[in-house]
Amino acid sequence: MVAKAIVIDCDPGADDAIALFLALAFPEQLNVLGITTVAGNVPLSLTQKNARCLCELAGRADLPIYAGCPRPLLRPLITAEDVHGKTGLDGISLPEPQMPLQSQHAVDFLIETCMRSTGNITLATLGPLTNLAVAIVKQPAICQHIHEIVMMGGALTQGNITPSAEFNLYVDPHAAQIVLTAGIPLTMVSLDVTHQAIATPERLRAIRAINSPISAATVGLLDHYGVYDMQRYGFSGPPLHDPCVIAYLLQPDFFTSYRASVAVETTSELTMGRTVVDRWHVTNQPPNANVVESIEADGFYQLLTQAIAKLSEP
Ligand code: RIB
Ligand code: CA
Repeated sequence: MVAKAIVIDCDPGADDAIALFLALAFPEQLNVLGITTVAGNVPLSLTQKNARCLCELAGRADLPIYAGCPRPLLRPLITAEDVHGKTGLDGISLPEPQMPLQSQHAVDFLIETCMRSTGNITLATLGPLTNLAVAIVKQPAICQHIHEIVMMGGALTQGNITPSAEFNLYVDPHAAQIVLTAGIPLTMVSLDVTHQAIATPERLRAIRAINSPISAATVGLLDHYGVYDMQRYGFSGPPLHDPCVIAYLLQPDFFTSYRASVAVETTSELTMGRTVVDRWHVTNQPPNANVVESIEADGFYQLLTQAIAKLSEP
């Protein structure tokens, strides 16, 4: 099997961190060409630094990491320190990164990588879509060079940052609109799916038992990150949003989905960033997304535990 060539665009962030560990644990399946970072959970100065810290912890100081857009296209940046902490990785303490930040802008890396490819690049987007939207505007031809976007974002029922919107699409709804209307094959992993993947104490017990720096970081991040979600939702643990995207790339049979037209609200402040999914095709809008509906949560956590164990091997 040829490894899938992917670029991960992220805003680490606790769940982004776990997603990076999951992606880096299976190099025979996922060939991570680079990691691009964007402002989201915390400002760009921290998301780019956190990405480097996490790659060093995972033994991948060789990976090229790029800084992208420091704010959304039109709206002011909002961040989520209340969820992820002031550092974006509260709950653990990592040494200052030694690996370099690439001098090339993330947007230019995305354009160059996609244009140079034979159309086999998959983009895993784990944060606001600002970098990808700017790349599409700057070089529209990349739309014909991207195999698929698998996006963590959107909400069909309840939102998390507002009653109706999910954080990534709320932060930059205009970027989301550019991506959703670009004609690029897209799979949407919304809150309605990620809230099915709760990191319960039982599921975390298996990871905690690995007893390695990576497993300690995973559990330390989730212990902190979970408090907010458990208070808000009454869950028995935090939902693992971003790792669901990587799990979809590794084990798509853990998921069910359907084709539908997806649009995003960019006008009303009441529903800004809301994704509207025409499940029953009541409009004549052609489907533009593969909308994920369910996840095999136990299988997902077995995969994540396997990943942490693999990264913990000497
Ligand atoms: O709404 C959850 C998403 O927003 C996740 O990607 C989380 O990391 C934040 O970016
Ligand atoms: Ca994220």
